[in-house]
Amino acid sequence: MKKIGIMTTGGDCSGLNTVINRIVLGATNRGWRVFGIIDGTDGLCTRPANIIDMNNDTVPIECARLAGSFLHNGNAQMMNFETAAETGRMAQFNKMLRNSLSGLGLDALILIGGNGSFSLAWKNRDIYSGLSLVCIPKTIDFDIPLTDRTIGFDTATNELVKYCDQLLLTARSHHRWFVVQTMGRECGRLALNAGVAVGADAIIIPEIKFNIDELVQRIRGSERDYGIIMVSEGIKLRGSSGRPADMISRKLTAAGINTRTAYPDYIQRSGDTVATDRILGAKMVTAALDAIENRETYVMTALRGNDCVTVPLSEFYAAGDISRDPNISDLCTSNAYVEPDDPLLSVASMMNIYIGEMK
Ligand code: F6P
Repeated sequence: MKKIGIMTTGGDCSGLNTVINRIVLGATNRGWRVFGIIDGTDGLCTRPANIIDMNNDTVPIECARLAGSFLHNGNAQMMNFETAAETGRMAQFNKMLRNSLSGLGLDALILIGGNGSFSLAWKNRDIYSGLSLVCIPKTIDFDIPLTDRTIGFDTATNELVKYCDQLLLTARSHHRWFVVQTMGRECGRLALNAGVAVGADAIIIPEIKFNIDELVQRIRGSERDYGIIMVSEGIKLRGSSGRPADMISRKLTAAGINTRTAYPDYIQRSGDTVATDRILGAKMVTAALDAIENRETYVMTALRGNDCVTVPLSEFYAAGDISRDPNISDLCTSNAYVEPDDPLLSVASMMNIYIGEMK
């Protein structure tokens, strides 16, 4: 009988519990035992390791739709990759994780994480030698290369859209423009997709240069005197500081435009998992369990069109834009961004949405 482990790492998103539920279902159908590692790598740092034996009642079907992770995502008080790097104890930390994992006698580990976790796993791959490491990509930022979707992105987009739909009603009553700041780190996909879905008047993302005067002109020229200006958290505005939505709002106010800022913040990581994320989760789990059966290791599941496949972590790492991690010295992460030929950019233009200097 195979023994497999599951852990959730990095920022949470809606969809994690669906993935956990489907892993347990699929694995027990195959006669495998499943262990949940609590709090990501934290669960491997305690003696004994903090793990639970999972069955189909641990995350029951009616709870699989809930946001967050039943296995938790990590506790800031524990030693982790960041603190280990800061204190020069990376080698010691890696050894502890490797020993802890080998002590559990797992055949495979499913790591449900984002590009930071996958980059770390690839860089420190010795930790996972001796077992089959299969990664499932989740993030509201959708900044992982080589997959057509990440778990949690559709639900986050949906939560943002619901939020903006409500703002539009009060915006209309008061003849106001709401500058809404989205999450996404340096990647504008969440702002772009939600902005198109809402029918925003402007979408400002880190990948595309914008000009405040053009934005002002566009708003002044609008048929409406209210609307949404979607601003991704990673944008910069030369000569300004503070939160991006505040920076934009201040400029618009100075130009005589009636604005308010709105911060959906962690609402974007909440909400019942939408159907497309649940189906994506089930497809990714199917690919992950097949990969374990086929003894693949150091792979990531990826959506390609309608199908889920596995791709080597080496390819994931080589395919992205590499940038230095601000919190972990020595770590470079592999990132995906909105590409200049993203079809949604033309769609946004067609809808008269201001998106900056489009080629
Ligand atoms: O990566 C997911 C994400 O939600 C980003 O969009 C956001 O910038 C960040 O995590 C927030 O992280 P924290 O939970 O540490 O505040």
